[in-house]
Amino acid sequence: MSELRVYQESGQLISAHTDFDGIHNQLAAIGVDFQRWEASRVLDAQATQDEVIEAYRGSVNKLMDDYGFQSVDVISMYPEHPQAQALRGKFLSEHTHDEFEVRFFVEGEGLFYIHADGKVYGALCTRGDLISVPAGYTHWFDMGPAPRFKSIRLFITPDGWVAKFTGDPIADRFPRLEAPHYRQAA
Ligand SMILES: [Fe+2]
Repeated sequence: MSELRVYQESGQLISAHTDFDGIHNQLAAIGVDFQRWEASRVLDAQATQDEVIEAYRGSVNKLMDDYGFQSVDVISMYPEHPQAQALRGKFLSEHTHDEFEVRFFVEGEGLFYIHADGKVYGALCTRGDLISVPAGYTHWFDMGPAPRFKSIRLFITPDGWVAKFTGDPIADRFPRLEAPHYRQAA
C-alpha cells in the first residue's frame, strides 16, 4: 500500500497518510507531483519494455508533453540482479539531479525520501504510483534489501539524471525499507 510519512528533520514523525488525496496534497504543497495511473491493458510478468510503455502510452505522452521529456525507458530490478546492492547503495544518500526524477511504478515498490521546506517526506510508492521530484530537490531513494520493482523512467537529457551528492548524512536518520514499519506493511 502506498504511504507518505512526513517527518521533522530530526526524524520525528509529524503525520502519515495512506489515502491518495492525503499523499497527493502533502507532496503538491512542496512542488512534488504524485499521480496514479491505470494500465490500458493487463501486463504479464514477461512484458517487454515496449509493451509496458504501450500499456501506459496515453499517460506517458501527456507527461512528455507537460514536462518536455524526450525519452522514456523501463527499469526492472529484482533481488538476484547482479548489481542490486550496488545500485541500492548508490542512491541511499542525499543527492540532487539537474532534471526531474520521474518514476512510474508498474509493479513492486520503492521508497523516496524528499527533503524540502525543513521537513522530510518519505513516500512509499507502489504499483500504479507516479512520483515526479523536481530538478535540484534534495532526496534519496531506497529500493530495499531485496529490490523488486519495474518502473517507467522519463528523461529530458541523458546526463540530467546524474546524482550530485550533498554529503549530508541526514538519510541515516530515517527508516529504510527493512525497518519494522515497512516489513509489517508488506
Ligand atoms: Fe535521485
